[in-house]
Amino acid sequence: MSKQVLISPSTDPCPLADLLEYSKNLIYNGADWLHCDIMDGKFVPAKTFDEIVLSLLSKRVNTTIDVHLMVEDPLDRLPAFARAGANVITVHFEAIKGTIAVINTINKIHELGCKAGLAIKPDTKVSAIENYLPFVDLVLVMSVEPGKSGQQFMINATSKIAELNAIREREKYNYLIEVDGGINKQNAGTVVSLGADVLVLGSAMYSAPDKHELIRYLKSLGD
Ligand code: DX5
Ligand code: ZN
Repeated sequence: MSKQVLISPSTDPCPLADLLEYSKNLIYNGADWLHCDIMDGKFVPAKTFDEIVLSLLSKRVNTTIDVHLMVEDPLDRLPAFARAGANVITVHFEAIKGTIAVINTINKIHELGCKAGLAIKPDTKVSAIENYLPFVDLVLVMSVEPGKSGQQFMINATSKIAELNAIREREKYNYLIEVDGGINKQNAGTVVSLGADVLVLGSAMYSAPDKHELIRYLKSLGD
């Protein structure tokens, strides 16, 4: 059965000065979403651009803005990211303390008119977020430790993708499965065959000489 594979290239490897041009080029070459990695220097050591830069960027690129918030206590910052043009906002399960806070965060993202995603780090099991799966639009499986691009794909992500796919089929849930970290031409077919719908590519996309060909190939994995 064929399915749609969405390609969401990451902003992380690109220097800030080139970001607008890089993003426009990706959209021109067929990318579906733009994966905007936001790091606060607390949840992860690195710090990236914030909602102010995002708002400048989102006004100039015509695509789905897929925000991956690697920040502590994301709840307070959600309105600013929604105003900045986010369409999908994904928060880390590990950054939120307690069941009620997780539910409040998902609800808040929806109230702001965005799709809500929940991300899990490599050491977090699918069972930890199982109660929230009926309420989210997307689950982001991290296949590297969050914090920087250019790391190697961690194989333990594959069983989580398969598990999320099985739960989705069994319970008739609707979330997309997004995979982020170390995805390249060699391993993308495996994650798609296990159930991934959205592929994030950082360094493999940034370094690809022919982005059009790479995006076309990745999308064909759903055929
Ligand atoms: C890592 C980020 C990723 C990263 C992906 O913390 O969330 O989006 O930029 O880069 P690659 O594909 O190089 O692992
Ligand atoms: Zn990311």
